[in-house]
Amino acid sequence: MEIFLDSANLKEIERFSDYSVIDGITTNPTLLSKENSKLEDVIKLCKKLNLFIFIQTLEDDYLKIYEEGKEYYKIYPERIILKIPFSLEGLKSLKLFKKENIPYSVTAIFSLSQIILSLKYEPKYVIPYINRIGRYGGEPFKIIKDAKTVIKDNDIKTKILSASFRSSKEIEEAMVNGSNAVTIPSNIFEEILDNPLSKKAIEDFKRDYFKI
Ligand code: E4P
Repeated sequence: MEIFLDSANLKEIERFSDYSVIDGITTNPTLLSKENSKLEDVIKLCKKLNLFIFIQTLEDDYLKIYEEGKEYYKIYPERIILKIPFSLEGLKSLKLFKKENIPYSVTAIFSLSQIILSLKYEPKYVIPYINRIGRYGGEPFKIIKDAKTVIKDNDIKTKILSASFRSSKEIEEAMVNGSNAVTIPSNIFEEILDNPLSKKAIEDFKRDYFKI
């Protein structure tokens, strides 16, 4: 099982990377611009901390996606995984990456049929957008469950990395329904860590011990 941080914030990445709480981070162009983080700085930090980093390509044409992806890969070949947004051009580029053993995932997944088309190229991960699927009327957890069946039945190694979360409940459901990995935004991470009931229990144990 793998846990990633869905963030391009340098401080957050350092905070959660200590002692391998996370395996790595996932970025996208929106997260980078929100944090005003330069991709080179985020890669540099991940390199220093030995973290995996998912980087999303921006180009539209498959040959350009391939060239763009190759440039990212060269910077940190040990732990960069490309995120190729689902599209016909994106799918076409996968064959080229596969030939060169460059690790790739397919992102911006909103349906089971998109996962099925992606699986033909055995990406390292498919990345369904849990909350967004739900917001647009879809059934994210059914998609994961069914994708898991397809993956198993066809003996494919692709893992399901669920993304786009707005609550810890969604993370729980995603894992229970067959995700291999989740990428968690820092606010939800903090919320899980900051459970008042856990805090109270720990304080009570301490208080009781010192009563002895
Ligand atoms: C991660 O890889 C995705 O880009 C991200 O989780 C999308 O999430 P959003 O719906 O919060 O933008």
